Amino acid sequence: MYVCLCHSVTDTDIRRLVRTEGVCTLRELSRELGVATQCGKCGRCAKEVLREAVDEVRNEMPCPGLMAA
Ligand code: FES
Repeated sequence: MYVCLCHSVTDTDIRRLVRTEGVCTLRELSRELGVATQCGKCGRCAKEVLREAVDEVRNEMPCPGLMAA
């Protein structure tokens, strides 16, 4: 789905950036994709998608205790 119409940014774009570039703040997202830098209407939605994407990546990280075994 489109998150930012001004810059044609989708939730997939945001999720990809979190995975490939380690983006985890709205400021970084804005710098990379221009999200929330024009009309600003997408800010809240972008923040929600960003938080979900960051949580997904964190939940996929292996438990450090299992790596040592
Ligand atoms: Fe994202 Fe306008 S919809 S800046």
